[in-house]
Amino acid sequence: MKVPFLDLKRQYASIEKDIDEAIADVLSHTQFILGPEVKQFEENLAKYCGTRYAVGCASGTDALLLSLRACGVGPGDEVITTTFSFFATAGVISRLGATPIFLDIQPDNYNLDVRQIEKKISKNTKVIMPVHLFGLCADMDEILSLAKKHNLKVIEDAAQAIGSVYKGKKAGTLGDLGCFSFFPSKNLGAYGDAGAVVTNDEESADKVRMLRVHGSRQKYYHEMVGYNSRLDTFQAAILDAKLKYLDQWTKKRREYADYYNRAFAGLPIQLPHDEKDKYHIFHQYTLSVPKRDQFKEYFKQKEIGCDTYYPLPLHQQECYRELAQRNGSLPVAEKKAGEVVSLPIFPELTQNELNYIAESVTYFFKQ
Ligand SMILES: Cc1ncc(COP(=O)(O)O)c(C=O)c1O
Repeated sequence: MKVPFLDLKRQYASIEKDIDEAIADVLSHTQFILGPEVKQFEENLAKYCGTRYAVGCASGTDALLLSLRACGVGPGDEVITTTFSFFATAGVISRLGATPIFLDIQPDNYNLDVRQIEKKISKNTKVIMPVHLFGLCADMDEILSLAKKHNLKVIEDAAQAIGSVYKGKKAGTLGDLGCFSFFPSKNLGAYGDAGAVVTNDEESADKVRMLRVHGSRQKYYHEMVGYNSRLDTFQAAILDAKLKYLDQWTKKRREYADYYNRAFAGLPIQLPHDEKDKYHIFHQYTLSVPKRDQFKEYFKQKEIGCDTYYPLPLHQQECYRELAQRNGSLPVAEKKAGEVVSLPIFPELTQNELNYIAESVTYFFKQ
């Protein structure tokens, strides 16, 4: 049996009418730039998250970039973040002339190790940027209390964590600003690039809203040098049509994670899990597997899709060579980069496929 890592065609088939109608509506009014669907989606996203404001933008990367700008980050500043994330998390910091200061991770959940934050804070630190990796929130209480103590802003990279919960609050709403990616493969995915920033702070929302249209509040008058980073009207319409399904899709992901965890109990692998006061949305179902590359080769023979997030931590990337001395070694992330593998977990998987995956994994370790 062939099982894809992700199959977006199945999702489209299940909600075809909603999507086709949403696209037809945009075609009927032709307000392709900041059309009414953008505002509608922003209102519904803010309601879903429980924030006062949501501002759509062109991508998750831009959501981070605009948020850093809204916090005044620029040349000479430092931003503390995790070394185990997608490149965008660090890239946006560097693009503003600031320096990413990388933290090692916790071995059991791959999120940044909050015990290491304080020793990395310097007089140049401006922001802490936790990433809620794979859909599980970072330890926000510790992060928020350190930020308060040192007068720092917190920008949550919640690109992978829409709908995830920490102590009753949604991911993205705990810090000063929260950033989402709607990259097509995300739990709430657009049909192209898209992103959003959520916040309860009026001034921050206002700045992000200006920055996404060249720093302009009034057309042709520019208070800041901004970007062209608007959320596309088609994407907003598609996201708004999909948002009402998000919680039921998340439930499916959690069911499948539970099924895998029961099937794999007792195998010599590290399983992902919910934690106290947190609600995991399983954007990825990620295992730590000894002989990972052999495991991936076996999966290829079995025709089951899988992927590795991430094979090289950020502090070891070629472009951050000059920061190597400052960062030193971050051994947990370096080790995990050689062990992690993510299995299919999209909501439209069938029970037959899940059984096949579970049997294949079990066979690999028992043979
Ligand atoms: C943790 C993280 N941060 C940032 C991004 C950037 O989002 P985008 O691809 O929408 O620009 C992504 C996803 O791609 C991500 O997974």
